[in-house]
Order: sequence, then structure tokens, then C-alpha cells
Amino acid sequence: MSKKEFIDSLIKKMTVAEKVGQLNQCGNSIYGESYKIGWDILRQGGIGSFLGITDVEKTNELQRVAVTETRLGIPLLLGFDVIHGFKTIFPTPWSEAFSWEPELAERTAEAASKEAAYSGINLMFAPMVDISRDSRWGRLVEGAGEDTYLGSEFAKARVKGIQGENLADREHCAACTKHFIAYGAAIGGRDYNSVDMSEQTLFNTYVPPFKAAIEAGTRSIMTAFHDFNGEPCTGSKYLLTDVLRNKLGFKGFALSDAGSCNQILVHGFSENDKDTAKIAMNAGLDVEMCGGKTIYADNLEALVEEGLVSLEALDESVRRVLEVKYDLGLFENPYRNEQEAKDALLTEETRNLAREAARKSIVLLKNNGILPLTTKKAALAGKFADSREEMLGCWSGVGEAKDCIAPADAFDFPVADGNYENYDVIIAFIGEKRCMNGEARSRSREVLEEEDLELLRNIKKAGKKLVTVVISGRPLVLKEARELSDALLFSGALGTEAGNAYKDIIFGKYNPSGKLVSSFPESIGQQPLYYNINHTGKPLGDDERWATRYIDSRIYPPLYPFGFGLSYTEFKYSNLQISDCNPKRDGEITVSIDVENIGEYDGEETVQLYVRDIVASSVRPIKELKGFKKVFIKAGEKVTVNIPLDIKNLGFYDRQLNYVVESGEFSVMVGANSADYISKSIFVE
Ligand code: NOJ
Repeated sequence: MSKKEFIDSLIKKMTVAEKVGQLNQCGNSIYGESYKIGWDILRQGGIGSFLGITDVEKTNELQRVAVTETRLGIPLLLGFDVIHGFKTIFPTPWSEAFSWEPELAERTAEAASKEAAYSGINLMFAPMVDISRDSRWGRLVEGAGEDTYLGSEFAKARVKGIQGENLADREHCAACTKHFIAYGAAIGGRDYNSVDMSEQTLFNTYVPPFKAAIEAGTRSIMTAFHDFNGEPCTGSKYLLTDVLRNKLGFKGFALSDAGSCNQILVHGFSENDKDTAKIAMNAGLDVEMCGGKTIYADNLEALVEEGLVSLEALDESVRRVLEVKYDLGLFENPYRNEQEAKDALLTEETRNLAREAARKSIVLLKNNGILPLTTKKAALAGKFADSREEMLGCWSGVGEAKDCIAPADAFDFPVADGNYENYDVIIAFIGEKRCMNGEARSRSREVLEEEDLELLRNIKKAGKKLVTVVISGRPLVLKEARELSDALLFSGALGTEAGNAYKDIIFGKYNPSGKLVSSFPESIGQQPLYYNINHTGKPLGDDERWATRYIDSRIYPPLYPFGFGLSYTEFKYSNLQISDCNPKRDGEITVSIDVENIGEYDGEETVQLYVRDIVASSVRPIKELKGFKKVFIKAGEKVTVNIPLDIKNLGFYDRQLNYVVESGEFSVMVGANSADYISKSIFVE
């Protein structure tokens, strides 16, 4: 029987109540406060999926009840937030993007997916592909930073990693790309706040990573909490049908965020629960992730009976869910072997991958020559020096602090608390605690805490050399830390192998290669801050009186520009060449540049390609990333780096939302970061 025949015949057998059940995703309170009632509902076929159940014994138990004790025996989707690791914890997604290696993100996503899949989870609430240009927003840590192109590359890679080639291979989960859409543009960087933006900005900046995830085959999409231009995303027909289905061609199922269906009412967009269910369903929301209330389960049946929701729409949503279950092979075998599940967790292989990912997720921001470290007379300091817990980061799956390598576990140095006299160098681990980023963790001042700065000042006062390692989930104002430090390293929480990764970097076993994916401000009050602003009529400039800038702080270049990161060696760029300076609008060219490693260490460099459309029918950004390549270059060697550039990627969505590539002059900029490059013009015909 074909998949279609199988699903058609199943839908034919289902009652309306059973159909509604497939659209009801419940939390883990079935093992808690709603124990009795939860199991009864499950047995009646009233629950199609769960979230937050991670023990293999429990995932098997739930599947057994669903398959053997319900009338139709439909297996369950079991979802979980596997954001940067399940048991083995990898760097936070933002920090991992510092690697500029989507292929690495694909591997870590795949490893996480496998660990989760062996425990019976089959739906991962990842990747988070929201573009974040405002570092006050606490969820910036969950995505790939401020850039649309880079974000799209990571979105694609992470979906591919999570889902693999074949969903039914029992080693991969279905991905749930989130949060649809423009969540990172919350006004003032305050989580859950309204988003108000032009459709042009929506399509040019926020849609592309979702488009990339959809093209990579993401099986589900999670809606966002906020209201977009006055409509809660979870109840917006414009977003969920016109954009998601009709424009982007998404074929999987749309899932609400926890309680976001109910929040349609809280927003004041519906009159009561029944009205909420009607709005959400008719907007195109397939599944409700419950949170407090079960709006779909309580109201859809009546709505269908009354003709306010069509049976066709209900069937279509159910079909989307069943298709994912089918493709995951759950109808054939929803169970996992309990021993195999345990053996799949935290293996030598995943630890090695976590270490590789962690060291590639660190950015060297300053080095006056003290690194790589040679002295033995060093000590560690700072609140994170001995904290395994803090290495875990914001979404730590079922990862445990006891499995993490803290700096103190990795380095052969003591942790010094105040008396530094026996040491030449102090390595201070400071920054944002993990509870300071993630959902509902917006900050009005993105600064280092006073206790951290006091520590750095005291070390300096004691006349010691200072290596500062800042761990954070967002860009911070690092001006004073930079002045006080002889070397400055930055990363997000790096996960299970964090300590080893810092050690690899600090002793030069691995030459730092990370580059920032967010602009770092010189002072607070500059948000939103991002490199690819539109060209203003009074362009940025330090000396200008009448320019787009502040009178009390510099914004361009920011303290650290997008794409910035040092190495223990130095790279010299020269000889920018373009294969065809008069390409056609549907043409493809190759941009090449010579990069010479003029330092003493072998190292990796990420060569970045930016483009500016000089004259267009819409004001365009001063530059936009359109390509990059990470290359390994031996000390003393020179390589030619070729980056392909597809001219159709130089277009944009116009006011009518048509994607247009306009002819005329474009400036092509190639260099080490968004503020340091060589440029040449091309003329598109
Ligand atoms: C709320 C978060 O916004 C979302 O990212 C997450 O996947 C769900 N809760 C489930 O935990």
C-alpha cells in the first residue's frame, strides 16, 4: 500500500474527535499533575504528540499505550528542545556560528538528533533561525546571529543534520524550524513584544532562513509568540497560509509555541477559546502545543460540527501530521531498545565532536602576543573558572554538569581567589551566567557585571598579565575589558568539552579561527546594531556633524564588527579578481583573492564576500554578505581563494514583493571582516 493509500484509509476510519487528537500536543504532566486524566485521554486517541519526555522507558511506555490501547493504534510524535545537544552538549547555536562552518553545525545537529532519536524522541524543536539584530533580546543566543545569508546557510545545514537523508533510518528526528516569524525584531529587544515592519524587510531579512529550512525539507515549523503587524503569528492567516504555504511552499505541519494559541485570546485578538481555535485553525495552524489550556482539543469538534471549521481543513492538518509519523517509520516500529539508547549517549565520538565544535566557536578579540601561553606560572580566576554547570548553556537538553569539563578540570593551574603574587598570568573566566540568556531573558544593558570588571581591575592593579575569557549569550560592551586585558577571548557557553577547548586555544594546540556573527557595540544604547544597514542620506562617519551616528559613542566601525576575529597568525589579502565584470542577471561569476599567511602559525581564515548595489529602485544596504570560504593556510604560504557568486542572489524583494535583480553597478568587497576588505566594481547587464 502506498503512503497515500495508507494515510487516506486511516483518515477515513478516524472520528472527528480522533482527528482533533492528532492536533493536540501535550506536555510532560502526564507523568505529573494530570496523570490520571492524561492517560485516559491518550487511550481515547485524544493526544497525537507530547513534548518534554526524554527517558526511553517513558517514550516506549507512551508509544505502547498509543499503539496497543487506542482504537486505531496511531503512534506518537515525541518532541523535545534539543537546541545544542541532547546528552552531549555542543556550543550554543550562536557561538557555534562563530565557526562559519555550516558543515560543522550539520554534524553537531546530526549527533544531537541521533542521541535523542535513540531515546525515542522523534521531533526536535530546532533549528531556531530567527535573525537577531538586537542584543538586548535574550534569545539571540539560540540562533546564528544578525546576518540573513549566514543565517540561511546555518538553517539549511542544521535541518539537514537533524533529519539526515532518510527520516526512517531511526537515527534522525524531524526538525521543527522556529519561530515563524521575525521574533528577533521585537520592539526594544523585549521578548514577546510586538513586531512592526514592512513586508519588504520581512522578505529580505527574516524570510530567507525559513525559506532555506523549507528547501532543506524541514518537516515542521513552530509559530512565534508575538504579534506581527497587529496579528498574533499563531493566528495569522497572512503568515501561516499566504506566506508559509502559498509563497514558501511549506508542506509540513505548523505547530504553535507553548500556549501561543491561547495567547491569541490574551493578545485581545479573539473573544473566547472557541473563537481562538477557529481563528488559529482557519489561519493554518495545524497542531497546538498546549500550555495551560487545550484550545484545539476542547473546541475543534464543535467548530467542525457547526461548519465554522471545514472538515477538509481538519483532514488536511491531520494528514500533515500523519505523513511525518509515516516517514519516521513509526507505524512500523515506534519503540527503542533501552540498552542501545543508553549506549548512544555521550560517546567518545560525540565528546570529540563537542571539543572540535567548541574550539571553533571561540573568537580571539585581542592579543598583544601573550597567547599562545608559554608560562607555567599562571592561575585561573573568575566565576566560571570552576563551574561545570555554567558550561552547559541555555538549552542543555538532558546534559548534566557532572559530565562537563570546566576550565579548572582542563588546565593544570590553580584557581586563585585574590592573592595573585605567585603568578605571572591570570586567566579570568567571566561573563553572563546561563540563566541570563534564552527565553524571557532580555536585558536593557548589555554589559559585563560590575563584579567581573572589578576582578579584571584588581588583577591589573596587582601588576599581572591578564587573559580574559568572556562567556556570554549576546554581544556585550567590552570596551573596558579590552583595555584591561592583554588578550581577550569570547565565546558562548561551549558545552560538555568547554574546558578542553579553552585549553586547546590558550596553549595554541588549536589556532583560533572563530569570527563574530553579531556586531559588538562600543556602548549601550546602540541597539539594534547590525552591519548591513541601509545607506542613509547622511552616511555614517566619525568626523561628520550631520551624519547617522550618536554624538557620544561611535557606531561605525563598532567595537568589533560583524565577521571579526583574530588568529595567532596574520593573513594578508591582495589581488582581488573577478572572472567577469559584466555578468548577466542570470549569470554566475567567481571572485578570487590571494590570502597569504604572513605569520608564524598555520591557521584557518574565513574569507568574506560582501556586495553593495550602488543604485537601485529601493534603498539598499551598505553591504551584504553574499559568500564566504574558510581555508586552512600553512605559515608562509599564499593561496588563491575562489568564491562563486550567483548574480541572482544580488536581488531583493521590491515593494510589490517581487524578487528583482536589477542591472547596474555593484561593489564587490572581499576581506577578513565586514569593515576590512578590498573592493572592485561589477556591472550587471
Ligand atoms: C517555548 C519556546 O519559545 C520554544 O522555543 C520551545 O521550543 C517551546 N517552549 C517548547 O519548550
